[in-house]
Amino acid sequence: MTGGSTDNSPRPNETAHEQTNVWKAARAELAGLPDGNMNIAWEAVDRHTHSGQGDAVALIWLGKNGERREIRYGELARLSDQFANALERLGIGKGERVCALTGRIPELFVTALGTLKAGAVFCPLFSAFGPEPIKVRLAKSQARVLVTTATLYERKVRSLREDLPDLRQVLLTDVTEAGPGTGSFHDLLAAESDRRALPKTRPDDMALLHFTSGTTGTPKGAIHVHEAVIAHRLTGRLALDLRPGDIYWCTADPGWVTGVSYGIIAPLTNGVTLVVDEAEFDARRWYRILAQERVNIWYTAPTAIRMLMKIGSEAARGHDLSALRFMASVGEPLNPEGVLWGQTVFGQPFHDTWWQTETGAIMIANHGAHPVRPGSMGRPLPGIEAAIVRRRSDGPLEPLGPDEIGELVLRVGWPSLFRGYLNDAARYQACFADGWYLSGDLATQDTDGYFWFLGRSDDVIKTSGHLIGPFEVESALLEHPAVAEVGMIGKPDPFAGDIIKVFVALKSGYTASDALRKELLGFARTRLGPAVAPRELEFVADLPKTRSGKIMRRLLRARELGLPLGDLSTLEGQQSPDND
Ligand code: WT7
Repeated sequence: MTGGSTDNSPRPNETAHEQTNVWKAARAELAGLPDGNMNIAWEAVDRHTHSGQGDAVALIWLGKNGERREIRYGELARLSDQFANALERLGIGKGERVCALTGRIPELFVTALGTLKAGAVFCPLFSAFGPEPIKVRLAKSQARVLVTTATLYERKVRSLREDLPDLRQVLLTDVTEAGPGTGSFHDLLAAESDRRALPKTRPDDMALLHFTSGTTGTPKGAIHVHEAVIAHRLTGRLALDLRPGDIYWCTADPGWVTGVSYGIIAPLTNGVTLVVDEAEFDARRWYRILAQERVNIWYTAPTAIRMLMKIGSEAARGHDLSALRFMASVGEPLNPEGVLWGQTVFGQPFHDTWWQTETGAIMIANHGAHPVRPGSMGRPLPGIEAAIVRRRSDGPLEPLGPDEIGELVLRVGWPSLFRGYLNDAARYQACFADGWYLSGDLATQDTDGYFWFLGRSDDVIKTSGHLIGPFEVESALLEHPAVAEVGMIGKPDPFAGDIIKVFVALKSGYTASDALRKELLGFARTRLGPAVAPRELEFVADLPKTRSGKIMRRLLRARELGLPLGDLSTLEGQQSPDND
């Protein structure tokens, strides 16, 4: 299943034995804990304080109003110990979920690390979600504690409280006094000791919960365990070239998996200094940060790269970007123009990397000594075996040859592979066949072992790098009295990758109008929040459906884009059975 190789190119995949050795060696590099225990936060922070690196800067926080604060590894160790002690005092047990709903503020890092030290499970929520996605995630995770800000609490959470019986504590990061139903994060910390016994978590204890979406059903909570840190640390080094002392900026929000795996864990375990910018994208600000903070490694996303390209390379002029050593991208296809633009403006290409919430860490990347192939996601990292297959309803997966279109699959066996969808065994089982994890992405592999992304085999879309499933968007609109049926598609956009477009059929008695269109868009935005809200809405008489009554979103999309139906049938021929 290796997709073929030529004599003069390195083999694209290693043997199972070599892969096992990669992970064994990576495991041996951890600081480790007595009795075979393992803990992500210990590896991220305390390993450095214990080896005398407590004074190294862990985090440079840039506030949106111009503040700049440095937090050293030693301080991060003490603050996260305090938060872990506080959780214990609150009676939060092993495996219970602690959610965070904040912007990019230092408290978010303390919450994540303290939660992990306490043996509880960290579950980040994106702050641009509206009340509806937040409610579903808080309920499904059975969150015991939520860390958030006073404003986000008022706007998005307070009205949900009575529907969330499991939620015992809401801790606000920006108040000094407890209010009705809330406590002060900082007061709580101040009352705790900054010392703690060693964490007692096992390598396969649940550590992180990341929600992700499929075509059908509510979002799925992907479970990751403490030993995922083995993969975070190794891939940070191999795919992002992280080295101790580097200044590293990951622009992803810790409300999503990239911002946790590569915005917190991978960099800290590798002893680098993180740059954390609280503000939203702003090209001039970004060039200033790269120059002033002397960023060495930069991990960003195609949406941002496209926006920088649009502003033009003049904006980079006058900034000393000579500290930049390595640039990488993730989350959506990075087109060759983006890669080459990096070369022109920064004197080096962007390195595309591919992975998913479920894989927990980077699997495929333009990395190491191999030249970047613009437009390709790259090659599997050491320890990873990837292949292109066709699923068959009866019988094993069928391996495909070079340049044949099929589903990208990964041989099970790396430490950051997710261990379940919370309370959803059937959906988890459906992700595996014959010892392979089925990614749901369509791709090809060329004769030199490089992988090329083609699209998804399901109906989820990427908007500004965020994965959005149709179920949440359609369900929100269906709550409006005028709406009979809804179908969501991704509509290509020069910057966001895709924007969310919905097709709406009205109930009888309602007439399509511009006013109603605006009302429905506003209705969806209030419930879903700006990150998930549809940007376009079109009225239709009815929606195309399969014989079993499923909305044919692919047909809606093909019509919208004027694609010949021939293209559609090819895609559908590849379409995998609905995992959800
Ligand atoms: C989906 C996973 C990105 C990791 C964290 C978010 C798409 C990811 C690439 C890439 C083209 C990519 C895939 C994948 N994707 N990286 N380099 N080129 N597409 O994980 O939210 O679970 O999204 O993002 O479709 O399945 P996620």
